[in-house]
Amino acid sequence: MTKQIDTETLRDWLDAHLPVTVLDIRTDDDRAQWAIPGSLHVNAYEALRNGQPGALADLVLPSDRPVVTVCNAGQVSQTAADVLAKRGFDARSLAGGMKAWSLAWNAAEVRVADPPVQVFQVRRIGKGCLSYVIGSGSDAAVIDPSVAPDVYHAIAQQHGWSIQQVIDTHIHADHLSRAGELARQTGATLRLPAQLRARFTFAPIVDGESIRVGPATLRALATPGHTQESMSYVLNDVAVFTGDTLFTNGVGRPDLHASPDAARQRARSLFASLMRLQQLPSDVLVLPAHTSEPIAFDGRAIAARLADVSKWLSGWVASESAFVERLTSNLPPTPPNFVRIVELNEAGELPAGDPTDLEAGANRCAIR
Ligand SMILES: [Fe+2]
Repeated sequence: MTKQIDTETLRDWLDAHLPVTVLDIRTDDDRAQWAIPGSLHVNAYEALRNGQPGALADLVLPSDRPVVTVCNAGQVSQTAADVLAKRGFDARSLAGGMKAWSLAWNAAEVRVADPPVQVFQVRRIGKGCLSYVIGSGSDAAVIDPSVAPDVYHAIAQQHGWSIQQVIDTHIHADHLSRAGELARQTGATLRLPAQLRARFTFAPIVDGESIRVGPATLRALATPGHTQESMSYVLNDVAVFTGDTLFTNGVGRPDLHASPDAARQRARSLFASLMRLQQLPSDVLVLPAHTSEPIAFDGRAIAARLADVSKWLSGWVASESAFVERLTSNLPPTPPNFVRIVELNEAGELPAGDPTDLEAGANRCAIR
């Protein structure tokens, strides 16, 4: 029988830097969409599916470590593992493939220039979603949680924090928000930007409002554009959580759930919001809700000083009309299942069963 490994175990191995060869056997197109960091790629999918093991017959791999074979759903990767096992490798197949891997995560501490505050970036590496735990004194806040509540509990517990605030920057379209679930489990206040979309109870946040996290403060800064309600949060003037408004190398798309005219209007709002963000001190750290590349197990936070972001952003916002044109003429394909994901996020529900059925695939929230 084919040996298997689950996402959580492989995640633990990679996080602990144990020696393992991850062999991605998918097609070039699938590989280009998203990949496991550090994995090798051999396009053997069609050959193996057609019963031709030759694709892996001569493949040279280290023999002193296990091999984990990966495909999209964990079926053809079993054939790959069988072929490699016959060749003498300690081979196993990633159960559920890249779809299951969508839930894998790692964490990195963000170095902020304000020692009484600690910030951890929790990265959903199988998808590119970034969420944050901010700890100060004995309290913590979580922003944009996108993986299981246990992950945030564990970080808070390790540092002696109790999670008092769970905050979303906006109603997400690419992943199911875990904010409601985390707030329910911790008894924390569930906070969302004030809007009429959410059909569940939450504490609305308005522009300029301050949220205490122990002795630290998060100040709400309305930054509409990606969505109408998008809110950024400024931490003690040392960092800003920008959601999908501003990334380290791009900006949020303005078109989801919007007609072409509405998308242009939203692009204009985003232009004004970016101007607003650029008014923050230049050494403020920009901490976004997404990255468009698979995230390595390197413990390095995805972040950029506003001064560095401004190097490319200033060119983008030199003219409003050119900005609107850039945003609306260069739209990536809409994220898979986003209508259903938005519906569930507006209802504050998680689907019964496996959330990755809806969430699989890379996020496509950014325009770069
Ligand atoms: Fe978004």
